[in-house]
Amino acid sequence: MSLQGILLSCYVLLVTVVNCKARYEPNWESIDSRPLPDWYDKAKLGIFINWGIYTVPSFHNEWFWYRWKGTHDPDYVEFMKNNYRPDFTYPDFAADLTAEFFDPNEWARILNSSGAEYIVHSSKHHEGFGMWPTNTSFNWNSMTVGPKKDLIGELAAAIKANTSIHYGIYHSLFEWFNPIYLQDEANGYKTQNYVDTKVIPALHELINKYQPDIIWPDGDWEATSTYWRATEFLAWLYNDSPVGDTVVTNDRWGSDARCHHGGFFTCEDRFQPGVLQKRKWENAMTIDRASWGFRRDASLNGYLTTQDIIATFVETVSCGGNMLMNIGPTKEGTITPLYEERLGDMGSWLAVNGDGIKGTRPWTTQNDTLASNVWYTKKSTTVYAITLQWPTGLTFSLAAPMTQPGTTVELLGYPGTFSWKARAGKGIDIMIPDIPFNKMPCKWAWTFKINGLANV
Ligand SMILES: *[C@@H]1O[C@H](CO)[C@@H](O)[C@H](O)[C@H]1NC(C)=O
Ligand SMILES: *[C@@H]1O[C@H](CO)[C@@H](O)[C@H](O)[C@H]1NC(C)=O
Ligand SMILES: *[C@@H]1O[C@H](CO)[C@@H](O)[C@H](O)[C@H]1NC(C)=O
Ligand SMILES: *[C@@H]1O[C@H](CO)[C@@H](O)[C@H](O)[C@H]1NC(C)=O
Repeated sequence: MSLQGILLSCYVLLVTVVNCKARYEPNWESIDSRPLPDWYDKAKLGIFINWGIYTVPSFHNEWFWYRWKGTHDPDYVEFMKNNYRPDFTYPDFAADLTAEFFDPNEWARILNSSGAEYIVHSSKHHEGFGMWPTNTSFNWNSMTVGPKKDLIGELAAAIKANTSIHYGIYHSLFEWFNPIYLQDEANGYKTQNYVDTKVIPALHELINKYQPDIIWPDGDWEATSTYWRATEFLAWLYNDSPVGDTVVTNDRWGSDARCHHGGFFTCEDRFQPGVLQKRKWENAMTIDRASWGFRRDASLNGYLTTQDIIATFVETVSCGGNMLMNIGPTKEGTITPLYEERLGDMGSWLAVNGDGIKGTRPWTTQNDTLASNVWYTKKSTTVYAITLQWPTGLTFSLAAPMTQPGTTVELLGYPGTFSWKARAGKGIDIMIPDIPFNKMPCKWAWTFKINGLANV
């Protein structure tokens, strides 16, 4: 063989080896066959940030424009009549998205204090306003009006430089009042001008520019995944984008996709099935009981307590989910002290109990039948029983764990091991010592770490 021939063979071999990596095809069967990158399941907690023009009126919730001009909800119409000049338009609010106190490093510190391992940051909600400099939203983005800043870019840079948190992006596919979208809708979604000129270019721009580890679409439900060109986009994302190996995505890719196709399943908002799911899923919920965006009309009991949040979190993780917990920053660019406190509480709870959460898998049993409000997780051969109520008696009885000689019971954050007795048949009686209040390892929920079970 000539030298040229050898070189050519090597080249062919090289190209073949390079091409060995699985390539996904633009259909759901192929897209769904991609294993979810491991980091996502291990992380368990993410923080969702919904921030946009709706934060300026900051009234009731982030659907402000639609409730005011779409459904003409009297509450919103009155609010505008009483507080703004008659010809005020929704785009007029943009100038007041001032973000003068926005400090991405301070946000990074507060977000990191929660112990969360990923964030999902809104790049555009259904109002269509881009929170980054983009020609796909000409003159309706945060660089041209309002803060005159690249809000996505600044937070992404701070998170990536100074924390190990995975940076993710939320993006609404549809827009309430975009005339090009409304024309496609009027055509029965037989035309795709809006998808081709707006959605796909914006997604490519966000991914190439900010290289997020999560792409979290929403606003998909009015049309199918075929209209959104979802499988073509995902094939590019997984095969050829700069984040192909690490990126995860959800299921909000069209009315036929939710809870059926994509990456992890979010199904509906605040999805909380209470039982083990076959596919990896995420509970997207919000600390404010009624809104994703910041609202000035929230009272204290309009927010979940830390107890509420941890109860939801423990149940979610036990059933195989991750929790994506939402905060709504203000138009000035601050995270209010109440949100900051809730985030810090999560971090302090995880600092003690993280061993029973991070990197765990669901056990064969999720909640106990003898003790209520006890949820299980598992890591290797260790089972964790997380109780949302501190046991009141001298013994704490659980039905699911099957003991054997050598079984050990510990309480995370407390020294030593606890004695136990086997219950007749199945189950365990754990002896609870008299722990002084100031020696309690944490508040809200407590984790028993059980090793050497017969039924692990
Ligand atoms: C993030 O939190 C961890 C503890 O969970 C801490 O060790 C680290 O210093 C924090 N980083 C920043 C930038 O706050
Ligand atoms: C936006 O358009 C302007 C003018 O055509 C161009 O200079 C700029 O590079 C474009 N920006 C992006 C992000 O494509
Ligand atoms: C990372 O943190 C340092 C120290 O607080 C700060 O000076 C720097 O600007 C931060 N990096 C980014 C990209 O925000
Ligand atoms: C387990 O949790 C689910 C969901 O909250 C609940 O419906 C069920 O009653 C619980 N089972 C027991 C035995 O407590």
